Amino acid sequence: MILKIIFKPLYFLKSIWDNVSSYFRLQFYRNSGIKIGEKVFISPKAFIDRSKPNMITIGKNVFLGVNTVVMPGVTIGDNVIIGAMSLVDKDIPSNCLAYGIPVKKVKNLNRVFKK
Ligand SMILES: CC(C)(COP(=O)(O)OP(=O)(O)OC[C@H]1O[C@@H](n2cnc3c(N)ncnc32)[C@H](O)[C@@H]1OP(=O)(O)O)[C@@H](O)C(=O)NCCC(=O)NCCS
Repeated sequence: MILKIIFKPLYFLKSIWDNVSSYFRLQFYRNSGIKIGEKVFISPKAFIDRSKPNMITIGKNVFLGVNTVVMPGVTIGDNVIIGAMSLVDKDIPSNCLAYGIPVKKVKNLNRVFKK
């Protein structure tokens, strides 16, 4: 019971920190030349490799799961969910769910995002 009282506010603070740090990670990657659209969430410990001059592009409305690594030169489309612990070593089309090492498109989300 006491642990619950102690940890509840800590989890709340952590979720705020995750969102704030995602915002700063986004700004950091944008400032380093990577094109990143609106409404993108980069989870904690997700890493975008900036080691090559041909930077990656990330579309809008993209979620990068925790511990994901995005290799240089890769393009991720709009409305994409990349699952936790994925290695994104190839381009990912718009409107899909993808995960794995190496990443594979798992589900088409065209119907979800169709206007
Ligand atoms: C990708 C994701 C959104 C898929 O969720 P979902 O559609 O509910 O998928 P399920 O949990 O029903 O899993 C379906 C199958 O995919 C597999 N799977 C799900 N996510 C996976 C991942 N990231 N890597 C490898 N396999 C994965 C499951 O093991 C399961 O396999 P099975 O059918 O053989 O049992 C989710 O698993 C995920 O990775 N979320 C991100 C979590 C995260 O980063 N949180 C931090 C936020 S700060």
